[in-house]
Amino acid sequence: MSLKLNDKTLFQSKALIGARMCESSSGSRVEVFDPATSQVLGTVPEMNSRDTQDAISEAESALSAWRSLTAAARSDLLRAWFQLVTDASEDLATLITAECGKPMAESRGEVTYAASFLKWYAEEATRAYGDIIPPHQPDKRLFVIKQSIGVAAAITPWNFPAAMILRKVGAAFAAGCTMVVKPAPQTPFTALALGVLAGRAGIPAGVLNIVTGSIDSSLEIGTAICKSSTVRALSFTGSTKAGISLAEQAASTVKKVSLELGGNASFIVFDDADIEGAVEGALAAKFRNSGQTCVCANRFFVQAKIHDEFIQKLTAAVKCLRVGPGNETDVAVGPLIDNRAYEKVKALVADAIHNGAKIEAEGDLGALGGHFYPPTVLTSVNSGMRLAHEEIFGPVAPIFKFDDESDVVRLANDTDFGLASYFYSDDISRCFRIAEAIECGMIGINTGMLSTATAPFGGVKSSGVGREGGRYGLEEYQELKYICLGGIA
Ligand code: SIN
Repeated sequence: MSLKLNDKTLFQSKALIGARMCESSSGSRVEVFDPATSQVLGTVPEMNSRDTQDAISEAESALSAWRSLTAAARSDLLRAWFQLVTDASEDLATLITAECGKPMAESRGEVTYAASFLKWYAEEATRAYGDIIPPHQPDKRLFVIKQSIGVAAAITPWNFPAAMILRKVGAAFAAGCTMVVKPAPQTPFTALALGVLAGRAGIPAGVLNIVTGSIDSSLEIGTAICKSSTVRALSFTGSTKAGISLAEQAASTVKKVSLELGGNASFIVFDDADIEGAVEGALAAKFRNSGQTCVCANRFFVQAKIHDEFIQKLTAAVKCLRVGPGNETDVAVGPLIDNRAYEKVKALVADAIHNGAKIEAEGDLGALGGHFYPPTVLTSVNSGMRLAHEEIFGPVAPIFKFDDESDVVRLANDTDFGLASYFYSDDISRCFRIAEAIECGMIGINTGMLSTATAPFGGVKSSGVGREGGRYGLEEYQELKYICLGGIA
């Protein structure tokens, strides 16, 4: 299938290892599908452990020269890459929509968001300051310097095919690391286009390597990365189950591991809140990318006094969301990524309905079939239902009713996850109380969108360890070295 790209050379179907765009050593290739039509978009190499080892060796060979560049020189290259990504934003958005399914407006937004990490880390690269520590003895001087950790690896998800790569790679390159990136099997084309642009920006061969694979070979590639003692840091975004398995394997080589895993975000609306604002925030926090983001609101808690009004306004808004292929105009909700995702959402809703939930609103699918799921609002839900504890990853909003503040804090924290959380209130004291009491890594108060390159992204509990973005994101790719200078007369 041919996509309408202004720059056709951005559609690459070979992997990137060192200076080569190459096939897998086995010669095997894997198909990539458009989730809106289930048509094949193209194929990419189905790489394996041996290919991954080659990519790691290339990253190792490129390391010494790359980490020896001045921070300012690496900053210039990141800045040049930022500019090329920005200039190619329409083509990148087309690729994202084709392989991930999200509406074009969201894909354009993702490219801007993704590029912002290159700009931010181009700036941060030059601010990786160390410390001077007051000495413990008169003849000593103590320093702490920050050094690149070495070769790093990134395993990235399909829901943000560009942003999750650049959030990791931007920080790694700024710190002076070289990288092996394994994009999700569903979305390799965006990754490969970013690889082409990195080369054009002047990033030297071997600094960025992109290993493509299938769902099956992903396990082999992940294991090769984890077991390699050359790879000193691994950053993974994906499911909690996969993250635990990678962390267990990476323990054998004592790597620094940063994990951004599943979520079960609460979205609380207190009765002193601006209801229109809360509805707007709910649409953004729930239906962005068809509900397929780790920070999506998973459970809505609405205080009794405003419960009915909130539901009436939310259902009216949800019924207006147009569902369809992401490349059609005015589409707000695209398809789910694949049949497995569709079946999971369907099963969670069936379980809720079987246990007494009521469908308050259901979007219109028209003649759409395949992996499209209608935006849905459920009421009469309770904490015994699967969707109260499992990540829905689909456009379904279950609404729980609550009476008082202490109850809702307990309910919101009644989950193994702790990535994001949202609440709406006009009471400033309550804003601080709730923000401090909710167990999570990120809180949106009176907003349904909190992600930005300048702030730390990450979770607590089973939602992960480490942070990406902001100045904290750089630390995942740095090591501290303490230097003690003696004999000062
Ligand atoms: C994610 O779903 O993991 C990323 C969402 C974001 O960066 O906003």
